[in-house]
Amino acid sequence: MIFTGRRFPTTRLRRNRRRSFLRELVQEVRLSCSDLVQPIFIMEGNNKEEAIKSMPGVSRLSVDLAVEKVAHLNQLKIPAVGLFPAIGQEKKTADGLEAINPNGLIQNAVKKIKDSVPDIGIITDIALDPYTSHGHDGILGEDGEILNDKTVEILQEQSLSLARAGADILAPSDMMDGRIGKIRAILDKNGYENVNLLSYAAKYASTFYGPFRDAIGSGTSLGRSDKKTYQMDPSNSNEALWEVALDLEEGADMVMIKPGLPYLDILKRVKETYSVPTFAYQVSGEYLMLKNLYPEEPELEREVIVESLLCFKRAGADAIFSYFSERVAEWLKNPN
Ligand code: PBG
Repeated sequence: MIFTGRRFPTTRLRRNRRRSFLRELVQEVRLSCSDLVQPIFIMEGNNKEEAIKSMPGVSRLSVDLAVEKVAHLNQLKIPAVGLFPAIGQEKKTADGLEAINPNGLIQNAVKKIKDSVPDIGIITDIALDPYTSHGHDGILGEDGEILNDKTVEILQEQSLSLARAGADILAPSDMMDGRIGKIRAILDKNGYENVNLLSYAAKYASTFYGPFRDAIGSGTSLGRSDKKTYQMDPSNSNEALWEVALDLEEGADMVMIKPGLPYLDILKRVKETYSVPTFAYQVSGEYLMLKNLYPEEPELEREVIVESLLCFKRAGADAIFSYFSERVAEWLKNPN
């Protein structure tokens, strides 16, 4: 900022804030539907909707109902959805191989959504935690360590099966080393060079994920175990730049910072350092906090949700994953 040399009483910053038209003219960032991605939890069955206890207002949907929801999101001009599976406990194994089933829950959801709503972008999570009996994102060695390279081999297969199903963007959220390069390679080798990779490059070992783990049913399997040997330490910020650099070199098209609001400093640093498409994830714990703030006052709830998303934009987010996306898109469409 260049110091102007002008000061009070010539300069009065409140002058630009006096009327709503003035505030609109000087607004630096704006929130629009095109910034929003809606995560959707998918479950087995037909015509099924199951409320998620840990996330009031969010449900798991069977594929047919998810297709209807996506059609509505498309009408609202939300550009993309992120799909997350809640599979039955009986399908979970130590190696999480259900993840690569070509007729698995998410593979089928992708096909059905593609058929009915071809214009919307489909983003699928790449990680094993919805599929493992222990709830970790990778497979365990004998000593309980998460095996990096063996996990990456399965993630490659998972990626290929989702690309074959028709996913537009694959989003590895597992935090294994080297997976972006390996996934890019297997996609390219099989003719999927146009499938995008959104890397959860700076994903922190966060306790803000609790409600999500309940939503996909990995929380009880994980128990008191944590993900600190692969997700990042919340103390670190330089390391996030290093993670992002590696993923960009390996072929990431976009990078994700996660969680969101408590990590806006990371988002801003990454955006300013690399100027690449940078996304943020307003995670389940943030959802719950905002949801609990004004339970009896819908107007205030709406204001605080929009404010929270605007803050992501101000910090430099190009797009935001938020469980509020659908509601916000409706408000943006009908402001009153
Ligand atoms: C799993 C994954 C998680 C989230 C998205 N993908 C949870 C985790 O790492 O345990 C969290 C999303 C949220 O909390 O809303 N790979």
